[in-house]
Amino acid sequence: MARITSIAFATILFNFLAVALAKAIPQVSHDVIIVGGGPAGLSALSGLSRVKRKAIMFDSQEYRNAPTRNMHDVIGNDGTPPAVFRGLAREQISKYKTATMVNATVQSVTPVHDEGYFRVTADGKEYTGRSVILGTGLVDILPSTPGMTDAWGKGMYWCPWCDGYEHRDQPLGILGPLRDAYSSVIEVRHLNTDVVIYANGTENDEEKAVLNKKYPGWDKVLEAYNVTINNASITSIERLRNGSVANDPKEDLQFDQFRIHFADNSTAVRNALFLNAPTVQRSHIPSQLGLGMADKKIVVGSKFNTTLPGVYAIGDANNDGSTNVPHAMYSGKGAAVKIHVALAHEESAAAISKRGLEKGAWRSIGDDLEALWKRAQSV
Ligand SMILES: Cc1cc2nc3c(=O)[nH]c(=O)nc-3n(C[C@H](O)[C@H](O)[C@H](O)COP(=O)(O)OP(=O)(O)OC[C@H]3O[C@@H](n4cnc5c(N)ncnc54)[C@H](O)[C@@H]3O)c2cc1C
Ligand SMILES: *[C@@H]1O[C@H](CO)[C@@H](O)[C@H](O)[C@H]1NC(C)=O
Ligand SMILES: *[C@@H]1O[C@H](CO)[C@@H](O)[C@H](O)[C@H]1NC(C)=O
Ligand SMILES: *[C@@H]1O[C@H](CO)[C@@H](O)[C@H](O)[C@H]1NC(C)=O
Ligand SMILES: *[C@@H]1O[C@H](CO)[C@@H](O)[C@H](O)[C@H]1NC(C)=O
Ligand SMILES: *[C@@H]1O[C@H](CO)[C@@H](O)[C@H](O)[C@H]1NC(C)=O
Ligand SMILES: *[C@@H]1O[C@H](CO)[C@@H](O)[C@H](O)[C@H]1NC(C)=O
Ligand SMILES: *[C@@H]1O[C@H](CO)[C@@H](O)[C@H](O)[C@H]1NC(C)=O
Repeated sequence: MARITSIAFATILFNFLAVALAKAIPQVSHDVIIVGGGPAGLSALSGLSRVKRKAIMFDSQEYRNAPTRNMHDVIGNDGTPPAVFRGLAREQISKYKTATMVNATVQSVTPVHDEGYFRVTADGKEYTGRSVILGTGLVDILPSTPGMTDAWGKGMYWCPWCDGYEHRDQPLGILGPLRDAYSSVIEVRHLNTDVVIYANGTENDEEKAVLNKKYPGWDKVLEAYNVTINNASITSIERLRNGSVANDPKEDLQFDQFRIHFADNSTAVRNALFLNAPTVQRSHIPSQLGLGMADKKIVVGSKFNTTLPGVYAIGDANNDGSTNVPHAMYSGKGAAVKIHVALAHEESAAAISKRGLEKGAWRSIGDDLEALWKRAQSV
């Protein structure tokens, strides 16, 4: 072999190490670690399993739609109870040998920056993955008013597509604040014509100014639709009828009924209630990872990638502007495809660099790196 200078050797060694370090596939327990087992996480697990990716899904089982009787507007599963839907998904996914489902809470996700993988702890055990998917969902913050939790998802709803059809043409109450109540009127008017706003003391100049700016003529619309505003302070919601038992399954009608109690001792009766509750992230993991957030949602790019490379966010938790089961499934599937392809590109690069080292670099610099190093030192 021709004599080589130490500078030339150092260059070769540097290039060798650069290629080896950049392209090596980290030794990990799983290709992908999924946090959350709602429709988003399940969909991601399905997509990864179909291409034999070794994936593990952790689920603490606090589902956003747990309070609802039936899941709607999910074609092929319209009206299926959410738990039945998830159970069917789990049963179908369980046949894939590379898929693992664990009922446990993920405590932490830590990027191992130099190595390009993630350490995940759940139930006191440690797992490692090349990518992490967060399908960790949201929590609805209900007003503390007594009766709210009983009503939520069972005659009181926030989305017309969820339970609106089962309460169509029934007397509906929209619970304040006033600034949100107007857009709710616009959303539900096609389903309910007997609508009253219960503004809970928010019929004030500030709220009106917001509406005047955003929806000029809003008050005229309310007048045209005969929607009145009741400004009394709400003290409690009392259930008078239970649509779980009082219903007409043939006509898809549920006959819930509520009495709203006010601070001035007046009351009002409505068959369904509409509430826009604020939401927050279910999980502390997004903030623990320091992910970019907007409006309390995880910021994602078009590949469902977050601001931290290797971490993806799907379902309600992300900020792509949609919170429903079809979106959870679409984004879970989307992330599975993007991750599989990204990992496959990493593997293809590693395949070339390995072969390059075997057939190219190794041949040119000799098989025995140590001997070469000694020789280089002696020149
Ligand atoms: C009352 C109600 C009724 C609804 N009805 C409908 C409907 O009819 N049709 C429809 O399309 N949508 C409906 N929705 C919306 C629907 O619930 C959500 O869009 C959907 O659940 C989002 O799925 P997801 O997988 O993103 O989140 P989720 O279903 O909330 O699942 C998130 C999962 O992540 C888990 N998790 C969080 N942190 C961790 C952690 N650290 N470790 C492990 N697991 C963790 C949680 O425990 C949970 O199991 C309804 C919502 C509500 C509130
Ligand atoms: C995890 O929870 C699901 C849904 O409740 C259940 O079907 C399954 O049996 C649980 N798995 C284990 C290992 O307990
Ligand atoms: C009504 O307003 C009070 C006081 O602001 C608040 O505590 C309560 O949660 C509100 N209730 C509803 C149903 O909005
Ligand atoms: C609505 O109630 C609030 C709080 O009690 C009060 O400040 C406001 O003046 C009321 N609005 C109207 C139109 O009465
Ligand atoms: C308007 O609504 C009120 C109840 O809020 C009702 O008593 C009245 O009959 C309605 N008027 C019309 C024209 O629909
Ligand atoms: C409504 O009926 C269902 C079904 O019988 C029952 O499980 C539930 O507890 C009832 N809810 C209330 C508030 O009575
Ligand atoms: C409401 O009713 C309670 C109990 O009957 C009474 O003590 C209270 O003074 C009433 N409040 C108003 C505003 O009428
Ligand atoms: C997502 O990936 C794109 C393309 O690689 C990148 O430009 C973007 O910064 C990433 N993150 C987010 C949150 O968009």
